[in-house]
Amino acid sequence: MNTLELLKTIEKEINEVTTWNELNEIKVKYMGKKGIIPELNTKIKDIPVEEKKSYGEKMNELKNGFNEYFEAKKIELETKLLNEKLQNESVDIGLPSTRIPMGNPNILEKIIEEVEELLMSMGYDVVDGPEIEEDRFNFELLNIPKGHPARDAQDTFYLKEEELLLRSQTSPVQARTMLEKKGLEPIRMICPGKTYRRDDDDATHSHQFMQIEGLLVDKDISLSDLKGTFDVIAKHLFGSSTETRLRPSYYQFTEPSVELDISCFKCKGTGCALCKNTGWITVAGAGMVHPNVLKNCGYDPNIWSGFAFGFGAERLAMLKYGISDIRTFYLTDLRVSTGFDRMEAQND
Ligand code: DAH
Repeated sequence: MNTLELLKTIEKEINEVTTWNELNEIKVKYMGKKGIIPELNTKIKDIPVEEKKSYGEKMNELKNGFNEYFEAKKIELETKLLNEKLQNESVDIGLPSTRIPMGNPNILEKIIEEVEELLMSMGYDVVDGPEIEEDRFNFELLNIPKGHPARDAQDTFYLKEEELLLRSQTSPVQARTMLEKKGLEPIRMICPGKTYRRDDDDATHSHQFMQIEGLLVDKDISLSDLKGTFDVIAKHLFGSSTETRLRPSYYQFTEPSVELDISCFKCKGTGCALCKNTGWITVAGAGMVHPNVLKNCGYDPNIWSGFAFGFGAERLAMLKYGISDIRTFYLTDLRVSTGFDRMEAQND
């Protein structure tokens, strides 16, 4: 038996194999029950004793040789199959993905953040105050004693505990801050937050709305400081060509009191429906901190002076985005956020 010749034939045949079937056929041909190698094996019984050993060794070489070629081909075929599978099942990353809609910041929140960032850059702190407030802070320290008619316009929700109410304005945070910051002057703070009134909801009234309060207390503060600060805010929110004016008004906690007006950004001051043909739009109440309020909070009005202002956050957003109904902000309609983002891009 020429083992070498036979092994070469086996190697050649296995080499030419391209499919599992062909490989199996070869296995049956050489190693099957009636295959060539087992056949050769049975011949050992007819071989003279002295040759049996070398015959046996040759048979082993043959079997091992076959297995080696067979296993190598098996791995080759398996790898080929795996590669084909990978290729067929590969993910096409060029396909568009399933789009997950992105959220948008609430436009009220956006306006508040714009004001916060601007005023922080001018050295103001953003502070918080409680929505459940004491009568003392909401009214009394602000120069609105019990029984004062000004309370009617700020009627709010009263809680069972005496003297507790849902704050009708963010102005109580002025008093809180002054008391807290005594000795740490100058005070520069803004406080955005929710406020409440016993109003029937309609297009311009909401029983809950938001204000942005501002307060500055220092020495030698005058109305022109307020005007300058307001000018910066107005131009930042409504564009650099915006003009501002102060108009006399009345609040119990400021003296003098003013309304802060901006020139109408829609008609540029010539008169339109938005500005009711006046060319001006009121955006905030403000004034010089009333001496009584300074005194109530422990500040000598002969030494200290300051100004305060209060914006309606919804009003700012309504003006900026052309929204005619305040209830829009609280309807949780996604279009309110997504739509205005687009509008803002147009206005830029
Ligand atoms: N708190 C006032 C309101 O709710 C708004 C206001 C007016 C705030 C004048 C101020 C101010 O700080 O100085 O109507």
